[in-house]
Amino acid sequence: MTPPPSNEPIRILAVAGARPNFMKIAPLMHEFARRPGRFQPILVHTGQHYDKAMSESFFTDLGIPEPDVNLGVGSGSHGQQTAQVLMKIEELLLERKPHAVLVVGDVNSTIAATLAAVKLDIPVAHVEAGLRSWDRKMPEEINRVLTDSISNWLFTTEPSAEENLVREGVPREKIHFVGNVMIDTLLTHREQARKLDTVERLGLKPHAYAVLTLHRPSNVDSAGQLVRLFEVLGRLNRELPVVFPIHPRTANAIEQNLGGRKPDLHLTDPLGYLDFLRLLTDAQMVLTDSGGIQEETTALGVPCLTLRDSTERPVTVTEGTNRIVGTDPDAIETAISELRNGKKPKGRRPALWDGQAAGRIVDILERDLAGKDAGST
Ligand code: UD1
Repeated sequence: MTPPPSNEPIRILAVAGARPNFMKIAPLMHEFARRPGRFQPILVHTGQHYDKAMSESFFTDLGIPEPDVNLGVGSGSHGQQTAQVLMKIEELLLERKPHAVLVVGDVNSTIAATLAAVKLDIPVAHVEAGLRSWDRKMPEEINRVLTDSISNWLFTTEPSAEENLVREGVPREKIHFVGNVMIDTLLTHREQARKLDTVERLGLKPHAYAVLTLHRPSNVDSAGQLVRLFEVLGRLNRELPVVFPIHPRTANAIEQNLGGRKPDLHLTDPLGYLDFLRLLTDAQMVLTDSGGIQEETTALGVPCLTLRDSTERPVTVTEGTNRIVGTDPDAIETAISELRNGKKPKGRRPALWDGQAAGRIVDILERDLAGKDAGST
């Protein structure tokens, strides 16, 4: 890998593909823009998520520049989706010859772009490295382990991540504890979101509703599990409205598994970033199987019940407001009544979740790439 001559900007090819990537890539793109002449970012959207509500609205809400390239891969099996990104991004890397590739999170686009780059001897920076659920049935866990094992810079959000990486044999000098770029985005947009009338528009009152998100295969792919979950959540909905913005994957699963029968909840289409942040801010509780929402509720100090058996983000439990309750309906119901009876976790915002993570990352990339042999990092 040839380093950029000192008078040439560092070309970074930044990759985003699916909804949870967009809030992570946004502050990094803004940070590159703050250093004109030193960086020349090339933003690539793989097209893994393509619906307006899953993609375009995030670019608008977060002021992310229009992607330089959209690979348009769309949906498909894991093999197909990953292979499409791998093939298309390899071509692009050969054409654009970036000095480094920047990937975020743990989606199929993340591992595919990483693999294409390292085989071309282009170093990769992985933002949100080292998280482990220890559940290899989750496609995201496979994506995390593989991406981390071949990346050159591993930017971590919490102390557990460094421990995991060291245990896997990653040299410490590759690991950089920088904080959480997703929380950069949250802190930047919190005031703007507070001014929205999302809560009222949905016919709700602040602190008198719950927010639900579900999309993991473990929750939505089995008809039995979906029915049991909706029974418990339907009971909660009779006391406290449960707002449920439906991910397209879940909408498909409901269509197939429940014969189109709608759950007894406050259903909405997927929301944009700002509307969803507004909704989270004033929720009495949040129930989710998402990764990122566990972190956002911790940053906001809102109680979160995670409907999974594990978390790759333990700091949200040890320091934040998150509780892992599993997927058993009785356990979920018990945890809900505890929260309703005022047993609320007192959390604090974890170290370095301070809105400055993107700046730290870009500082390190600049230090390591400007006029140096990037391959030696
Ligand atoms: C992906 C990520 C997951 C992340 C989630 C957030 C992987 C392995 N998974 O899961 O980590 O938490 O995004 O949303 O990368 N679909 C649409 N429109 C879209 C996108 C998807 O209708 O814009 C439907 C399609 O039917 C598709 C299904 O949703 O088959 C699943 O999409 P996919 O990108 O494969 O995975 P997600 O479940 O969204």
